[in-house]
Amino acid sequence: MWTGNLSALLVGLSVLLTVRRCLSARSRRLPRSTERVLIIGASSGIGRTLAVEYARLGVHGVCVVGRRVEMLEEVVEECKSHAHSSLKKTEVLALAGDFAEVGDMVRVRNELQSRWGGIDTVVVAAGVSALRPLLDIVKDKPGDDGIQHLVDVSARATRGNFVGPLVAAATFIPLLESSSPHPSILLVNSLASAIPAPTRALYASTKAASLHLYQALAIEHPKIAFTQFLPSTVEGDFRASAVDGGAANVREADPNKHGLKRIPVARRCIQAIEHREKHVFMPWSMGPSHLIFWLWPAFVEWRASVKYRFTPPQRT
Ligand SMILES: NC(=O)c1ccc[n+]([C@@H]2O[C@H](COP(=O)([O-])OP(=O)(O)OC[C@H]3O[C@@H](n4cnc5c(N)ncnc54)[C@H](OP(=O)(O)O)[C@@H]3O)[C@@H](O)[C@H]2O)c1
Repeated sequence: MWTGNLSALLVGLSVLLTVRRCLSARSRRLPRSTERVLIIGASSGIGRTLAVEYARLGVHGVCVVGRRVEMLEEVVEECKSHAHSSLKKTEVLALAGDFAEVGDMVRVRNELQSRWGGIDTVVVAAGVSALRPLLDIVKDKPGDDGIQHLVDVSARATRGNFVGPLVAAATFIPLLESSSPHPSILLVNSLASAIPAPTRALYASTKAASLHLYQALAIEHPKIAFTQFLPSTVEGDFRASAVDGGAANVREADPNKHGLKRIPVARRCIQAIEHREKHVFMPWSMGPSHLIFWLWPAFVEWRASVKYRFTPPQRT
């Protein structure tokens, strides 16, 4: 008898939660046809897929940013060809720029202000990889020159994974706050910033820096809904951007066979913005794994070593 009552209660509760979730969806208050979206790092990968998904949803405008002009032009065409036929066509704007360059981001901001009067959604998807054990990088140069070489490599990783998100935040937060009734920012971060992995010391630490930066900004700017998106490996060519020369010797299983697919990743990003989710692990099971890391670190460290096929060097 009581089990019947309990299941009725659970069903009722889940219906209630689903209705509540639907009613509080952002697109009910900010219709897609008025939403102005900026995607930084949209010439390839997750950012590019997101641009196409937003065009499919019929948003008012999508601005795609990256350094490779010809790739951005391709994205514009792809967005146009995927636009929803029965909806008003999305305006797709390609603005070339480097997100770690203040002048470039200010130019993008001014252009969006004059064309659209502002922005509602910012996705920071740009980033660079680094794939080698830290002290292997030092060995690229003889003697102590190797340490300076490591510092130079780490400056490139910091530029792509921390300075870029920093410049983007400082440039676009004021515009979001002044021009959108429901502003949102999503940072495409990485599982590596929450669960450390061997061969990813530089990557994980620079991504963790931007994770903490945006977590703190979320408290300083409560009017904006901040989402930290932490996926595990995703298909694509991200490893080609390795700032440490690691692309020549990728250790893990082929991301294009074993990684998350870009379309579900992009759709999960859009869903997270829709429901003002603060932290999203993908797959979701990595959320509990993050907790396990604090309770039983040796187990998670072992799993990470297996994934990246890492064996610690033997002592001589
Ligand atoms: N792929 C994965 O396995 C994976 C897993 C977890 C997290 N992530 C994160 O997901 C994000 C996107 O990765 P992805 O897989 O889509 O890789 P991707 O295909 O290499 O895309 C990276 C994008 O960032 C842009 N970019 C890089 N540096 C830039 C800069 N200085 N200024 C402006 N744009 C810049 C690139 O465009 P240009 O080269 O044209 O500038 C490109 O559009 C990254 O932040 C990464 O950390 C990736």
